[in-house]
Amino acid sequence: MDREAFQREHGIIGRSLEMQEIVDVVQQVAPTDITVLITGESGVGKEVIARALHNASKRSKKQLVTVNCGAIPEGLIESELFGHEKGSFTSAVESRKGYFEIADEGTIFLDEIGETPLSTQVKLLRVLESGEFMKVGSSTSRTSNVRVIAATNKDLQYEVQQKKFRPDLYFRLRSVNIVVPPLRNRREDIPLLIEHLVNDFSSRNGIRFEGFTDDATEIIMNYRWPGNVRELKNAIESMMVLENGRRLRGDDVRKYLKEYQGPVADRNLPVVSNKTVEQAERELIYRALVDLKGTILELRDVILQGLPVHADATEVKAGRSNGNGTLTLDEMERRMIVNALDRNKGNRRLAATELNISERTLYRKIKEFGLQE
Ligand SMILES: Nc1ncnc2c1ncn2[C@@H]1O[C@H](COP(=O)(O)OP(=O)(O)OP(=O)(O)O)[C@@H](O)[C@H]1O
Ligand SMILES: [Mg+2]
Repeated sequence: MDREAFQREHGIIGRSLEMQEIVDVVQQVAPTDITVLITGESGVGKEVIARALHNASKRSKKQLVTVNCGAIPEGLIESELFGHEKGSFTSAVESRKGYFEIADEGTIFLDEIGETPLSTQVKLLRVLESGEFMKVGSSTSRTSNVRVIAATNKDLQYEVQQKKFRPDLYFRLRSVNIVVPPLRNRREDIPLLIEHLVNDFSSRNGIRFEGFTDDATEIIMNYRWPGNVRELKNAIESMMVLENGRRLRGDDVRKYLKEYQGPVADRNLPVVSNKTVEQAERELIYRALVDLKGTILELRDVILQGLPVHADATEVKAGRSNGNGTLTLDEMERRMIVNALDRNKGNRRLAATELNISERTLYRKIKEFGLQE
């Protein structure tokens, strides 16, 4: 398949020399079982590359299991990765499959591998070398036939120097290393990405967009894009929604670029203009929605940092997980309630106090989640 067809099929946008080289490597190594390490700043598209590697492989009919190694608390990571036997620790009431078992015959994507604790790194090395692992609390080895793709935005060589990452694992992982450069080092990709993002967003949301003036284009092309493609995507979507699809000038665009926003930038303030009341109202509602989305994403991050929030295949089937290995908000809420009830031996008043919700809300949630005995 030629490079462009491959890019279209796998949704990899970019025509810079750097992206061309990356796509060539992806096409070459996808059909093999070689371990691939993808490195690059946050938002450059590491996950896009990982998906393409899986989807273009002979394993594409099987699962791609994504594990965010940075989001799993240290004490749980081994049982999440390798599974555990019943009774191996206090809360292990039944045995459970780990991601390596779930991903058998498919691909496992170890995202943020730089965050893996040293003690777990030895075990990862062993699976990589022999396919062997042991469930927590078990003394027999099992094997799993998985292809491993790893990603990180850390400089692993530096982590090795700092003794935070095992050199043997580092060398094993980087047999093929795909380095995705930041967007500011491949600016030719910006117009193509914008075209794609605009078309995609307008067709999904029925918003038309009249484009940018020359000075706006210049600002976009010269901006540093510290958040890379993710920041570009968010900026484009916000601009299209909040500016009602009209043609945007330089001043309009600046408002949406992080580095142009002073520390006190307040996007909640209505813009003074001669708009009709109806237009101004609509704008306020859009702004509130975009802010609300931001707040929800922040909340999600906070929750992800504090909870064992990884899901297994049964949870995906039951609709409790979004299929990316993260739990849905509903499921996180359900777990918090179950835990609070457990800790308080079923006493709803105490559990409600601990959760900082009213007893009545707790009753409603218990019913809603079918937690009643
Ligand atoms: N080359 C690309 N073509 C199309 N979309 C892209 C490309 N690169 C990134 N994107 C889009 O940008 C967003 C961020 O990409 P992605 O999640 O792959 O980044 P990442 O490198 O994994 O970031 P992080 O380190 O924060 O996890 C996604 O919405 C993705 O679809
Ligand atoms: Mg990612």
